[in-house]
Formats: sequence, structure tokens, C-alpha cells
Amino acid sequence: MNQSMAGMKRTHYCGDVTKNLIGEKITVMGWVNKQRDLPNVIFVVVRDRTGIFQVAVSKENADFYSMAKSIRTEYVVAATGTVIARTPENVNPNMPTGEVELDVTELRILSESEVPPFQVAEEDVGIDLRLKYRYIDLRRPESQKIMMLRHKTAQATRKFLSDEGFIEIETPVLTKSSPEGARDYLVASRTHPGQFYALPQSPQLFKQLLMISGFDKYFQIVKCYRDEDLRADRQPEFTQIDIELSFVDMEDVIALNERMMQTICREVLGKDIPAPFPRITYADAMERFGSDKPDMRFAMELQNITHLVAGSDFGVFQGAIDAGGSVRGILAKNSAKMPRKQIDSLVELVKQYKAKGLAWIVIQEDGTLKTTLSKFFDEQQLQAIVSHFDGQAGDLIFLCADTNAIVLDSLGALRLEIAKRNNLINANDLNLLWVVDFPLLEWSEEDNRFYARHHPFTAPMDEDLPMLEKGENLQNVRAKAYDMVLNGYEIVGGSIRIHQQDVQKLMFKTLNFSEESAEKGFGFFLEALKYGTPPHGGTAWGFDRLVMLLTGADSIREVIAFPKVKDASCPTTHAPSAVEAAQLAELGISVS
Ligand code: AMO
Ligand code: AMP
Repeated sequence: MNQSMAGMKRTHYCGDVTKNLIGEKITVMGWVNKQRDLPNVIFVVVRDRTGIFQVAVSKENADFYSMAKSIRTEYVVAATGTVIARTPENVNPNMPTGEVELDVTELRILSESEVPPFQVAEEDVGIDLRLKYRYIDLRRPESQKIMMLRHKTAQATRKFLSDEGFIEIETPVLTKSSPEGARDYLVASRTHPGQFYALPQSPQLFKQLLMISGFDKYFQIVKCYRDEDLRADRQPEFTQIDIELSFVDMEDVIALNERMMQTICREVLGKDIPAPFPRITYADAMERFGSDKPDMRFAMELQNITHLVAGSDFGVFQGAIDAGGSVRGILAKNSAKMPRKQIDSLVELVKQYKAKGLAWIVIQEDGTLKTTLSKFFDEQQLQAIVSHFDGQAGDLIFLCADTNAIVLDSLGALRLEIAKRNNLINANDLNLLWVVDFPLLEWSEEDNRFYARHHPFTAPMDEDLPMLEKGENLQNVRAKAYDMVLNGYEIVGGSIRIHQQDVQKLMFKTLNFSEESAEKGFGFFLEALKYGTPPHGGTAWGFDRLVMLLTGADSIREVIAFPKVKDASCPTTHAPSAVEAAQLAELGISVS
């Protein structure tokens, strides 16, 4: 029964129909949110991206009454009529257009709909179903609001950067696989059988080449691809706001990014945020919060109590200390009554971070202690630990012993979990900070070599360059790198780059590259560095993460129109999929 819209033209969006239009003849088009069949009148609530608006078809309206009767949710309809005031008892104060309705003179069904797999207005629809029918899910006002805010954020970004003199330039999507970094997505070449393009993990080298070309200030809102495990804040295909500029130092780049964040918060949220943002060194962030992206909306800092417990008979503690590790802990305020089951679940949590367990001390209401450590420490020692944490009656202390890395990771995660359970976080805060003084290199026990902590193009601090040159104390070389953290998420990462060919070569050597392998992987770039490279640096913003935090969504999945799910598949199209044998043959590929 689908009808043509010929002769009808939409005059208004549903959400825009207000009292001011009473008496006017208008036409709206959209999806049926709800149809209500009352004894003498049928109400059809029409939805478009701006809101909902009620269309009334009375029994006397013989031309359209039976059509209105047949209408079901998600039908696409067009309605022309006169805007009238609702009778007082029918006014709906919860609906922005609730004071008016349309007295229909023309109604058409433009498209019927089968019963949808879930109602758009329904809450608590399972995520799998939502994503399979993402096009229906995206009809939900919340989803539409998110996508509009995403658009607004992109617009504010483009305007800000253009006003600051940046030029938007696109870089290739079919590019070269690079040996460092995450796992690549590969694309087979038909014209070079057996050879592959890689999808870019970021436009890093292209943006540096553009600096060598003299563009001076570049940006791009760009898709990046990394074949990594998915998480709430990580998708295999995600968007960066990628920025690079020449003749700048770290302070210039940091200030630019702060101005940009202020502009986005003002334009998108109407919020003024103060700058400069606080800074914390990587070492302090790890020591105090057990994280290189600390959520500083609450305190609950880690305490190192190695000196208080050294020399005990407790094998778990002493073993860790003897092996060069430490014993640290956190104090959970007013958590003495935490049920055993919850404590056990926290022990399970830290095990995910490779900790072997947690010890705990409960400070009971009468001040006496209940602890897993009673066999190994006397009352005086235990009280010394408690007073180190400034523990009060009703508090609970957790302790963890292991290598420094495991202890910090575990307690960092424990801190976040306890804050969440105890509601210590104000969701409306926008807590921004910079983490600076990152180490340039990271030692991998597994591979027995250094990796670049950020990427191999990040410059060392000038005063630390001699260590790199001499190959001494390499783990202490600091990078000219900076991350912006918002509410415990790394949303921006960047650095000043190496712009001298010899330093870049030295960096590759430090990363265990032979001259040949550096040449093979990055030869084109090493060559480019020879032809006049300005000092330069930049950043990349995790655009999806930014939108997630601006909208309060709990996963970046919610802010991506068609996201991937856990196994990196697309629930809407069911990609990836097998392809025809002929297609593979053409590419010279056989699947084992
Ligand atoms: P980096 O790898 O830190 O730096 O990435 C920059 C920002 O991108 C976001 N991000 C992600 N978001 C969603 N899903 C992912 N899988 C994902 N991976 C990263 C994060 C991160 O801060 N070329 C450098 C930047 C530079 O040096 O200028 C780069 O890509 O928010
Ligand atoms: P176990 O030797 O595994 O029975 O552990 C004895 C107690 O030591 C446990 O109840 C825990 O409280 C604590 N414990 C075990 N492993 C650790 C660890 N890595 N750090 C801190 N405490 C631990």
C-alpha cells in the first residue's frame, strides 16, 4: 500500500512544531513512533531526527480514518494539515510539541514496516540485537543525539584548526606495512601478487612528510586501523584528529591542544574550562595512581610500604622484596563492611593484572584490626601500616606484593574499581591533565629488546640525547612526548619528532634494527629526512573517545555509527566474510 510523496513537500521537522504555528498548514514526514486507536480518533505520533509530533485523524475524517487505523510503528508517513492547540486535558507537558497537534487533511503511507525486532522507544534492548539492526537502533533519540554531537565536535574542530591556519590534507589508506606498532590489517595487491598494502595505524609518517613539504600546519580527521583486541575504549577501526606543525616546541603543541579542548568544550558543551591543564610526570602518575592515564577526579593514592614490611617472615612479601619488587597498597574509606564475596571479586580483578593475590586489613569500628596478615605481623607492625595509610575505624586497606610493574598495574585497576563501587566519581567533572616526561624506550623481557614507548619517531629530551648516543641508561632516557588525559582516558597522544637523520638512524639502532632492516622498513622516510626537515611535532586525538566522554556514553561503540564487536566483526553486514575462489585466484592467494 506504499504511496508516492508526489505533490507533498515537507515544510517542517516534527520537533519544530510549536504553539507559534497554530493555524498554519504544514506537512511533516517521518516514522511512526506510536499509533493510538481511541474510540473517536486515531493519534499517529510521527518521529524524525528532531523529535516527535502528534497527528490526529478523527472518525469524521472518512478519507483517512481507515488508513490511520492500518498504520503500525515504524511505517514511514507524510501528513499535511492545520496545526491546532490540543484540548487542555490532552496537553502533554513531557513532550516539547505536546501543546499542539495536526488536524489532518492529507495522510499517506510512504513505506510500510514489518514489526521491528525491537521498539525504538524500548529500553534495555540487548546490545547484540541493537547492533544487528543498528539502522533501527540509530533511530533512538539518544543515538541521534550522540551522532549529532559527534558532528558538532568535528565541525568545531575543523573550524578551530582552520582558524589557526591548519590545512586539511588527506593521506593514503592503502599504504606500507610498518614493522613497529600494532598488528596491521593487510590488503592483497592484484597487480603485485604476493604483496600487500597495510591500512594505516595512523598517518604518522605521511604527516611528517607533509612537514618536510612545507605545509607547516596540517590536520586530518582520519580513520586508523589496528588489529588489536577490542575494549570499551578501543575499536579496530577508529578515528583520529591528526595534527602536525613545524617550527614548534613542546609548549607550543601543548598550548594549541589546550586551546582546541577549550574551544570544543565551549562550542559543544557550552562549558568553559580553565587552562593550562595540570601536568604530572609519568613517574609520578605511576607511583601515585598506578596508571599512565590517572583518573584524578578522586584521590585514593597508592602508598609504598615496602620499608614497613621488609624483613618479615611472610614469604609472599619478602619474596617480592628480595626479587626487587615492592609492597604497596590503597585505603578504601568506609569499606570495612565490604562483604567477603566482594573482596574475593577484587582479588579476581587484580589477578587479571597478573597479581597473585591481595592482603587486607580491616579497621573495625572498635579500632581493632582483622587481617590476613595476623600470622606474620604483630599488632605494632600492623598499626604502623595502618597509620601510614592514615587509616580510621571503618576503613579497609588492600596490600599487594609483586614486581613493581605488576603491583602498580594491579593497584591502579583496584583503585578505579573501588572508586566505581563506592561512587567516588562525579560523572559531570571534566578532569583534564597532561602526562609528561615519558620514558622514550620500554624494555621487553620477552623479546629481549627495547621498544619505542610512543613510536620510533619521537624525539628524546635534548639533555638525555647523550645517554642514547652512548647507549647508557637507556631506560632513563625521557621523550619529548605528552598525553592528554580526560577522566582517566588517554584522549590525545603526541610528541616532538626526531628531525635529524642521524638521530633517527640511532633510534632505529637502539630498537635493534640492522641498517638493512631499517632501510627496508623505513628507507623512504630516512631518505626524506635528508632533504631539509624542519623541527616539527604534533598530536593525535582519539576522536571516538573524545565523543564518548563528551556524551557520557559508556563505550566508544555507542558513538560510532556502525561499530565492530568483540571478535572484530561487523554485526550489521557480517564482515569479514569468505570470498569467491576466483577473487582469491586473481590475487594469487590460497587459504590454508
Ligand atoms: P596513539 O597511538 O597514541 O598515537 O593514538 C592517538 C590516540 O588515538 C586513540 N586511539 C584509539 N581509539 C580507539 N580505538 C583504538 N584502537 C585506538 N588507538 C588509539 C587514543 C590515542 O590517544 N601517530 C600517533 C600520534 C602522534 O604522535 O601524533 C598516534 O597514533 O585516544
Ligand atoms: P596464600 O599463601 O596464597 O594462601 O596467601 C596468604 C595470604 O597472603 C592471602 O590470604 C592473601 O591475603 C595474601 N597474598 C597472597 N598473594 C599476595 C600478593 N601477591 N600480595 C599481597 N598479598 C598476597
